[in-house]
Amino acid sequence: MSAVKEPVVIHKGLDNVYVKESKICFIDGEASRLFYRGYSIEDLAEYSSFEETAYLLIYGWLPTKSQLDEFKRRLEAFRPLEPNIIQLIRSYPTSSDPMDVLRTTVSALGLYDPQPLADNAEARIEKALKILAKTPTIITAFDRIRRQKQPVSPKSGLSQAADFLYMLTGEEPDPYDAHVMDVALILHAEHEMNASTFSCTVTASTLADMYSIITSGIGTLRGPLHGGANEAALRTVMEVGEPSRAETYVVEALAQKKKIMGFGHRVYKTWDPRYVILKKLGGELAAKKGETKLFDTAVAIEKSARKHLEGTSIFPNVDSYSGIVFHVLGIPTDLFTPIFAMSRIAGWTAHALEYLEANRLIRPKALYVGRTGIAYKPIDARSGGLED
Ligand SMILES: CC(C)(COP(=O)(O)OP(=O)(O)OC[C@H]1O[C@@H](n2cnc3c(N)ncnc32)[C@H](O)[C@@H]1OP(=O)(O)O)[C@@H](O)C(=O)NCCC(=O)NCCS
Repeated sequence: MSAVKEPVVIHKGLDNVYVKESKICFIDGEASRLFYRGYSIEDLAEYSSFEETAYLLIYGWLPTKSQLDEFKRRLEAFRPLEPNIIQLIRSYPTSSDPMDVLRTTVSALGLYDPQPLADNAEARIEKALKILAKTPTIITAFDRIRRQKQPVSPKSGLSQAADFLYMLTGEEPDPYDAHVMDVALILHAEHEMNASTFSCTVTASTLADMYSIITSGIGTLRGPLHGGANEAALRTVMEVGEPSRAETYVVEALAQKKKIMGFGHRVYKTWDPRYVILKKLGGELAAKKGETKLFDTAVAIEKSARKHLEGTSIFPNVDSYSGIVFHVLGIPTDLFTPIFAMSRIAGWTAHALEYLEANRLIRPKALYVGRTGIAYKPIDARSGGLED
């Protein structure tokens, strides 16, 4: 019996498969350009704030002052966690991975929403903003609890970036640190149809609630092939330790066919524009803090890797310096991917809402290549393997 009647093309990894039209993000991987809703990432990093960028992604336009004030007011009001949620976080093993904590807690938030199901865009946005606003509070509460410290409540008047650093340390951050964090959030907020955004889109297409949509995105971002590269890049730089060892590391890694973390990209075949911004900020931040060794080591690795990879399309990506930036800001390494999620929720929401405007349940096919027509054997007659 033949399972398939016509020739079939399998798009493994869905490379070059378009699942929708979109007005959210444009990447020109050949020209090193990235735009959110038509605005260049360079302009957004220079002039915007994370809140303004999140508004832009979700609603589609840059807010007026009153729209932005109202948006910030809503986020601020949503930032505190219900006592039950704090209690839940306290119940987790302190050895938990913060991404697992975030995934579980965002899912649990839905249990405390009086109306988790939403059937219109405004209600979905309301839930997305609750999740977006509470994410820094969840991440920092867990980090403090595992360090035997009391969680710090959000502080009114601080930006999402500044409040994250405040809740992490209990002290209001230096304005420059808050600015660097804010730019890092802008740079991670959106990146077209990547794996986690697709995951959110699939869940949205079933008309599931926002908590399920964002939870599925966090689960997908959790994997090392997606969210974990900045941690890996930082570990590499730490292992190399100093600029003079960079050349030996790069030569040996390439000889062993190992990938240099923070290099290469499926879409960018030249400089990742986010890398350019983060490298500049990272250098300034490191100099300001007098912690230049890691940054200088990363620069030496980059220089050496570019020399040995000359003629290829393998260039530094956003992760080559983001880990160093977060490290110099005093953020524990295992919080890097949760920070990525905390920012990307804006993009996930924008894509879920856009897809739902003209929804079609996502239901691809699998080409069946297994057996058919096998005689069912009673349990005592089975061999316990494929030969049955
Ligand atoms: C991001 C990544 C998965 C993109 O992969 P891709 O476009 O599918 O490219 P491939 O993994 O198929 O690699 C194509 C070739 O380039 C090489 N290459 C890709 N990235 C490389 C890197 N960082 N260092 C050294 N060589 C690399 C591969 O070894 C492969 O060589 P081959 O053709 O001789 O086998 C890949 O570049 C990578 O793993 N980079 C390191 C992790 C990282 O920084 N990820 C963050 C992305 S934002």
